Amino acid sequence: MTSLPPALLDALTKALGPGGLLTDASDMTPYLTDWRSLFHGKAVAVARPASTAACAEAVRLCAKHNVPVVPQGGNTSMVGGATPDETGHALVIVTSRMNRVREIDPIDNTMVVEAGVTLKAAQDAATAAGLMLPLSISSEGSAEIGGVLATNAGGNNTVRYGNARELVLGLEAVLPDGQVLDVMRRLRKDNTGYALRQLFIGSEGTLGLITTAILQLQPKPKSVEAALCAVADAKGALALFSAFRNTEPSAIQAFEFMSGLSMNLVNTLIPDASLPLSEAAPGYVLVELASPREGGALRDLMEEVLGRAFEDGLVSDAVLAESETQRLAFWKLREEHAEAQKRAGASVKNDVSVPLSAIPTFIDRATAACEALIPGIRVAPFGHIGDGNIHFNLVQPEGADGKAFLARDHEMMDTVAGIVKELGGSFSAEHGVGQLKTYMMPGWRGGAELDMMRRIKSAVDPEGIMNPGKIFPAA
Ligand code: MLT
Ligand code: ZN
Repeated sequence: MTSLPPALLDALTKALGPGGLLTDASDMTPYLTDWRSLFHGKAVAVARPASTAACAEAVRLCAKHNVPVVPQGGNTSMVGGATPDETGHALVIVTSRMNRVREIDPIDNTMVVEAGVTLKAAQDAATAAGLMLPLSISSEGSAEIGGVLATNAGGNNTVRYGNARELVLGLEAVLPDGQVLDVMRRLRKDNTGYALRQLFIGSEGTLGLITTAILQLQPKPKSVEAALCAVADAKGALALFSAFRNTEPSAIQAFEFMSGLSMNLVNTLIPDASLPLSEAAPGYVLVELASPREGGALRDLMEEVLGRAFEDGLVSDAVLAESETQRLAFWKLREEHAEAQKRAGASVKNDVSVPLSAIPTFIDRATAACEALIPGIRVAPFGHIGDGNIHFNLVQPEGADGKAFLARDHEMMDTVAGIVKELGGSFSAEHGVGQLKTYMMPGWRGGAELDMMRRIKSAVDPEGIMNPGKIFPAA
């Protein structure tokens, strides 16, 4: 770790105010390792600005002194996107103190929210105003809006409302030279040149640091129906998805698949999680329907489609949530998948997408290939099947050495990715590239695509100070 030059230390301390700059090693520790403990970095200091102005001044000072900046929100990246490298040269800028929901407008159906508001707090604020922020991910209690937007998070409601990108009307971001880009316009229509806000969404902090956003809200559902269903496999899950979509596409709010193995990990390793079905199954679907209208129409729809699915042999058992508590218990079974897999030992995540029609082939082929590669490996696929997004996660064989398993991560990732590529998919559906997957970029996004990304990066950040080592492989 290097230390801050005295002039910079002094200027940053002034700009950030009391409690705004952490330089003590033990204070910095939580910001230097990712959630999965895969990446361990070092930093010159950790800045915690409480306002856009303080953040912009910190970035301006870094640019002046040629200090790299690593933006960090709730530190929930699955790909090491918010962890600094090991040189110790970077300043980590944490957004958590910029945490106000500034305004909710019930006519525009918008919310003005600062980067450090957790996704859960933003959802709660929208709900309290009688509206809904339709973005939901497992880490929403910790993940912050700035990071959620910088990584274009997807999650459970993408099937109906789109990824984070679709929800952003306006944005404010600090550029690598410390200027503030203010495109905080809450307009549905605004064709005035490049839509610059979209550049920052999914840029993983490599072009600037998002400080505030205007998000599009939706009416709060007045009726919600959830069902947990037992299915034979992903093919059955997909056929069930088609059955709902062909009957009433606008009612589907979430459609999640869980393999028997991944559900079993949740059931055995997570306290208070319990499967409400009489028997374990090879696969499960959690389907949620929602409508801004009151009444029993959704229950009728759920019963109609599931009734047909029983007759057609697509579903062997199902339970409908009879209360909000039961609905949340169903979601707990889904949301605790990442935590359960963490508890089961070392795991390798393959957050991939393929065309919906290719999902069964993908799961079959990738399972066989991984089982051949590492006998005893626990293949635990689950995820947002309605979006074609499968978390094809691989858990170490029981009792095996976790470190030795992780040392083969590229072998496993490349085996899965090879099949994804043949099926026309993507090697990262929602977690991003971070530092974990930079090595895949030339093979997947090479040629004109990566070249254009590099040109945009060097036009916006010529000195390369924003989140170095993320997205782009070393040139
Ligand atoms: C999820 O949907 O729960 C996460 O994206 C998970 C993961 O890959 O573990
Ligand atoms: Zn996910």
